Amino acid sequence: MARLELRNIDKSYGAFQAIEGLNLAVEDGSFTVFVGPSGCGKSTLLRMIAGLEKITGGDLIIGGRTVNTADPIERGVAMVFQNYALYPHMTVEQNIGFALRIAGLGREEIARRVMDVAKTLQVESLLKRKPAQLSGGQRQRVAIGRAIVRNPDVFLFDEPLSNLDAELRVSMRVEIAKLHQRLRTTMIYVTHDQTEAMTLADRIVVIRAGKIEQVGTPQQLYSDPENLFVAGFIGSPRMNLLDGTTAPDGSVRLACGAVFHTTAPLPAAGTPVKLGIRPEHFTVDEGGLEIAATVDVVENLGGTRFIYGQLASGESVVIEERSERPLQRGETLSFRASPSRALLFAADGTRIRDVAWKE
Ligand SMILES: Nc1ncnc2c1ncn2[C@@H]1O[C@H](COP(=O)(O)OP(=O)(O)O)[C@@H](O)[C@H]1O
Ligand SMILES: [Mg+2]
Repeated sequence: MARLELRNIDKSYGAFQAIEGLNLAVEDGSFTVFVGPSGCGKSTLLRMIAGLEKITGGDLIIGGRTVNTADPIERGVAMVFQNYALYPHMTVEQNIGFALRIAGLGREEIARRVMDVAKTLQVESLLKRKPAQLSGGQRQRVAIGRAIVRNPDVFLFDEPLSNLDAELRVSMRVEIAKLHQRLRTTMIYVTHDQTEAMTLADRIVVIRAGKIEQVGTPQQLYSDPENLFVAGFIGSPRMNLLDGTTAPDGSVRLACGAVFHTTAPLPAAGTPVKLGIRPEHFTVDEGGLEIAATVDVVENLGGTRFIYGQLASGESVVIEERSERPLQRGETLSFRASPSRALLFAADGTRIRDVAWKE
């Protein structure tokens, strides 16, 4: 078990700055997920923690010790990679036990620990096989086993499920969550998949272009995003972000024609803004005239459905609705949004908080 601290961490590859002045504390025993688009620096950050990549500036502290230049093996971390990185010529048993052999443990102890881990991950029957004789899911279990057997203070996962098919990804995700509940070891998990981040994390760190955009619980990021980037990144389908302008009477006039009134004036009339509304915060209302959309596509998921439509402004919109009444492509639909659920953003992407919406 260990707490981690990243203090003002920089990483440059030549002239390119991949990570810039990053500060973060990862609590002991927590499940922290780094999420962000491809190329934002997630792997770089994880590799610096693991000691596989040099830190250009700042301090990395694991369990109270500054480990900037410590060897990977001295850091008490174990990493699981997306491509499994198993030794092809070794059996599952030898792969899982490898680090223990290197550490000079006795045969019996190695055998016992490998068997413990194999049971946990349900790969006992595969111990004599080589990686080529395993499915993708089985290989990933072995890769996780190889990390667990070392009893690390910190687990680092770099997109461990990205190479698996959709169904297996969901079941492995649940297993990783169970593993964390059982071991209570600090875990840092990297993914570009916001669903994985939302379902696994105690705390999510949203990264963009080498900088932290926001840190919070999944629920905080979902309902109270700090800026437009986080609002758009977290949530599936995405939050609707509609163009509008502030008016002198304190209302927000949307490009699609709808008007959202407030009881207190907004700063500077005529300012372009974006109004954010999640798909589930619209209510379809046949009598309403609030907003009209032309139906493009309806995705029926059984219990609920997503209506993809177009507004008078030409903007796309997604509405979640729990209804079974038939809908035709090209049909016009009226719906409302409760202003209390709407989020307002300035043109530069920052959140405009404390808006006094009139219901
Ligand atoms: N060895 C390297 N040399 C130069 N640039 C690199 C190297 N490794 C990564 N980068 C760059 O650093 C940025 C972050 O990469 P990475 O951490 O792999 O992103 P992520 O894991 O979030 O997809 C990218 O722009 C990538 O091209
Ligand atoms: Mg990566």
